[in-house]
Parts: sequence; structure tokens; C-alpha cells
Amino acid sequence: MRDLPQQSDPNLIAGAEGYEDAGVYKLSNDIALVQTLDFFTPIVDDAYTFGKIAVTNALSDVYAMGGRPLTAMNIVCFPATKMDLSILNRVLAGGLDKLQEAEVTLVGGHSVEDPELKYGLSVTGLIHPDKVVFNRGCVPGDRLILTKPLGTGIISTAIKAGMAGEKAIARAVYSMTALNKKAAELMLEVGVHACTDVTGFGLLGHACEMIEGTEAAIIIDSSAVPYIPEAREMADMGLVPGGTTRNRCFREVMVDMEPGLHIFVSDILFDPQTSGGLLISLPAEKAGELLDRLHQEGIVDAAIIGRVEAGPAGRIRVH
Ligand code: CO
Ligand code: CO
Repeated sequence: MRDLPQQSDPNLIAGAEGYEDAGVYKLSNDIALVQTLDFFTPIVDDAYTFGKIAVTNALSDVYAMGGRPLTAMNIVCFPATKMDLSILNRVLAGGLDKLQEAEVTLVGGHSVEDPELKYGLSVTGLIHPDKVVFNRGCVPGDRLILTKPLGTGIISTAIKAGMAGEKAIARAVYSMTALNKKAAELMLEVGVHACTDVTGFGLLGHACEMIEGTEAAIIIDSSAVPYIPEAREMADMGLVPGGTTRNRCFREVMVDMEPGLHIFVSDILFDPQTSGGLLISLPAEKAGELLDRLHQEGIVDAAIIGRVEAGPAGRIRVH
């Protein structure tokens, strides 16, 4: 990117720089566009469920910015010569059902012939330019809330290896198809300092993005972090995705793990998530209220998992 000409546009609120979940572009003093796209290969065997996961995942980056998704377009790669078209129809039906639940309108899409099935969406939402919730902005004294359990990376790996039990699959699918819509609405009502969604870099990877280059530090209480129980047993069997090691290598320089923690703590905190929960930083005095309201709305795994401190700058300590 170094040799490419840089753009500057006074209306660009969040762009390709930094780690923001979506682009934000101001249209007027009252309204800005929130735009994102995401697509990937199937992570579950059922085509309809895969469609629902892809939509839940694609919408999540808009919710993580505090935006309201409005329209979406399908992105499809399909191996028409070796796969039955009915499979694609099931994927798209799952996607459409999830869009309807989210009250987002499908306005089109594009498909190409490809050796491997891939599905996702580009999503457009709206937001007030002054109400964007950035990844950065956590304040010493804040509490951190995570709204979904970790472990979907481990369970997806187990599914691919044919080692995942029905209960584990059901729990992972439930989590990956749960919209972050309600959590985002409650977050906006209560008022927060920062938010991102936990996806491919794992909890610690995305927590690092929240404080990298800032003066703040994060303390994570590993015993408070929610995870899908079956993930532990599968990790013990070695069903840890390759992405976990990549995430750890990339970010371990910022992270201090308390000596003596079980290896599973590192495996689960760096587990790459698909369609993960929101990681929210908010004032301590509001954390209990948001947590109660999340639980009342059925987001029962939501938990306070740590806090923000004044330093050491850009460090995460896990105990
Ligand atoms: Co994101
Ligand atoms: Co994203």
C-alpha cells in the first residue's frame, strides 16, 4: 500500500486505516453511511445454517460501530459444475431468513463460478456521525463486557475433523447465528466508550486493537470469560485451529499471561471466532446495568471479563 496514492476526504469518519469494524462516511451533519463486507467458506455442514451464520457475521461489523444495517448484497462463489444448485438455494434461503429477522433488505448481489463455495454479503447501514462507537476510546476504570461465549473456532475445527458432538455443534451454531442487534441497541441506550466484535483475531487480538498505541492497559480475568464448555475437551484433544497459533504469534508481544495458567486459557482467548460477540468498554458504574439488561434480553452468556487501567501503555495482563 506504501506506493499507492493516499486519499483524503473530510467526510471519511472511519476508513481503511486502523482496525475499525466498518467504514463510516458522513453524508450530512445528521447522517453517515456504515459499510462493510465479509464472505467465507462453509464452517458447518448444513447449507441453510451456513447462510444464517454468514449474514449474522456480515451484519455484526455494522452493529459493532453502533450503526443500523439497512440493506445488503449477496456475494457468491459457486462451483456450478460439481455442486447441485439446490445447495446454493439453501444457503441463500438461510441468509434471507436471517436478513428478515434483522429487518435488513436484500437489494441484489453477484455470483461467480469458483472451485469452492463461498458466501457473504456487503452491508450498508446508517449512523449519526457523532454517535459512532469506535474500537478505540476505552478509559481507565472502564469494565469490559463480552456478549457471546468463545470457542467457535475450536468447535469448527472439530466439525471439520468429524469429532464434534451434536451438543457442541448446536451450541456453536446458536452462538454464530445470534444477531448482535439487541446487544448493540442496549449498548447505545446505556452509553459506552468503545466497542468491537470478536472475530478472526480472537478475544485477545481484538482487545489488543482497542488499546494498541494508547496509554491504556487491559486486565482480563480469565475465569470470568464465557466459553462453550465442549470446547475445552476438544482443545484437550488437540482440535485447535491453525489461526490460534497465528493470533498468538502476532499479539503475544503485548500480552502478559500469569504464570501457571492452563494452556487452554491461551487457546480459548486466542481462538478465532466466526460471528462472535461484542466486546464493549464502558464506565464501571454502567457495567452492571448493561449486563442485567443483556441477561434480561436472553443474552445469557454476557459477562464482565475485565477492566481498563491507566497503564502500562498498550499492555494486556491475563490472570
Ligand atoms: Co469487526
Ligand atoms: Co470486520
